[in-house]
Amino acid sequence: MARDYDPMPQSYEFDVLVIGSGAAGLTVALNLPEHLRVCVLSKADISSGATLWAQGGIAAVLDDDDSTEDHIQDTLAAGAGLCHEDAVRFTVEHGRESIDWLINSGVAFTKDENAHYHLTREGGHSHRRIIHAADATGHAVSTTLTEQALARPNIELMSRRVAVDLITNRKLSLPGNRCVGAYILNLEDNHVELFRARFTVIATGGASKAYRYTTNPDGASGDGIAMAWRAGCRVANMEFNQFHPTCLYHPHAKSFLITEAVRGEGGLLKLPDGSRFMDRFDERAELAPRDIVARAIDHEMKRLGADHLYLDISHKPADFIKHHFPTIYEKCLGFGIDITREPLPVVPAAHYTCGGIITDERARSDINGLYVVGEAGFTGLHGANRMASNSLLECLVYGRSAAADIARREADIPPAPDAPDWDESQVRDSDEDVVISHNWDELRHFMWDYVGIVRTTKRLQRAKHRVDLLSREIGEFYSNYRVSNDLLELRNLVTVSDLIICSALQRKESRGLHYTLDFPGLISEAKDTVLVPTTYRTLSP
Ligand code: FAD
Ligand code: SIN
Repeated sequence: MARDYDPMPQSYEFDVLVIGSGAAGLTVALNLPEHLRVCVLSKADISSGATLWAQGGIAAVLDDDDSTEDHIQDTLAAGAGLCHEDAVRFTVEHGRESIDWLINSGVAFTKDENAHYHLTREGGHSHRRIIHAADATGHAVSTTLTEQALARPNIELMSRRVAVDLITNRKLSLPGNRCVGAYILNLEDNHVELFRARFTVIATGGASKAYRYTTNPDGASGDGIAMAWRAGCRVANMEFNQFHPTCLYHPHAKSFLITEAVRGEGGLLKLPDGSRFMDRFDERAELAPRDIVARAIDHEMKRLGADHLYLDISHKPADFIKHHFPTIYEKCLGFGIDITREPLPVVPAAHYTCGGIITDERARSDINGLYVVGEAGFTGLHGANRMASNSLLECLVYGRSAAADIARREADIPPAPDAPDWDESQVRDSDEDVVISHNWDELRHFMWDYVGIVRTTKRLQRAKHRVDLLSREIGEFYSNYRVSNDLLELRNLVTVSDLIICSALQRKESRGLHYTLDFPGLISEAKDTVLVPTTYRTLSP
């Protein structure tokens, strides 16, 4: 079908282009010097990423009885031997100042009756160290940082803008290994616009939408990871997708998380007959690290043929429950479940991408001028299993570190070179969008069934076979039709799923979140799975 197209699409030039407006992207933008012109993009509303939905809180050493060393040791233990100790130390040591920055920015964390910040507890933590805003921490962080960014004259926030691909010197046939901006689909008028920038920051969040059941909001399609991979960045440890043990099980509850803090405050996991089971799996019972709890639930569900188990906090006083978990209480009540009186049905769901684009302490990637922060990045902090509430901390610490590095370098970095407008002359409007919706469903189904909590080599090979077929089909579709948000997300999800499967096939052991029946033991040397774009020609449509 013919459509009118503006012959002169918009183009923009900024000092810093931040792709993503969650905790990570906004932290970078707000910590940059105010003489820099900064653009922050979001593909939906500004507050539409995972950050808005974060419940439990942010881990940091804030109590005199706690210690940096204990937070480090807990993180290392949860990470099952694969955390990079220097990254863990760096993150934990910068925890308190990052929380102070949030408090000074205006985030109203919950206080106790003595007017001290209330600290809750979650799996893997040996102390109470999670600062939170009731059970809606992400909402408080996201709205506060967005307000701050809106008030900054040097920051331009643009919503409904979808990054399609990065622009690099290599793509422009120029010498050097530099990122100079990105092509961005404007969803208001469906034009692809040119954004040139001296520095580009990927802050696009994770990829848990690769799975059929997830706690993540729409949009968690791993766009930044796929874009960076296509541009030539290495990725690491993509096999470690974290499944959160407790997502509300209800036909009308789309992806509603029940925070681990419910277990931290005494909530108990139960079988349909009302008995507890976690102590059969780990001495820390309900507060064992997430991989152990999710696997135990999966095991019991399969053993009993149950489609969900239960989380019960009804033995606590009703006022206590309503005070600590007002959002969850109201949400469940809306579904006819009164958590002050009865257990609530729960299932595990894909929650967090522990792997990502390889970065260093300054959040620099393999490409000059390209930074990666937040869930899209791989800093080495999480190892084989992220400890609860360490991810918002990582967004803050590395976001501030990226901003400091850009500030240090900016005087020496020239403007981005010219780049051509997006070329749509060879493509037409799609006349069969069913290909996109069908492939979305197929991909997320087989990822759940074959690349989920418990894996086998045979299942992974089946998944690899299917993802290769989808890659070819979507690659062909992408070359022939105009881009849309759905097509871009699918293209990225296929790439990221391929990265997950290839990484999982390479790991011949069970460690942390990667559990395979074919290799149930640990190998003695803990090694990252690093994928290098040039050696994986079959990946990426
Ligand atoms: P996000 O907050 O996901 O933001 C991504 C941004 O990138 C969005 O603005 C999105 O629109 C944009 N974007 C994506 N792709 C594109 C594109 N192609 N073009 C333009 N923009 C794009 N962690 C904790 O530490 N504590 C918790 O209590 C906690 N609770 C959680 C509860 C839930 C339900 C979920 C889902 C996660 C939770 N997590 C928690 C994890 C944590 O919230 C996330 O890891 C973190 O918020 C990620 O932040 P981010 O800035 O990297 O990405
Ligand atoms: C939760 O509140 O259980 C989520 C915490 C996290 O993902 O870190």
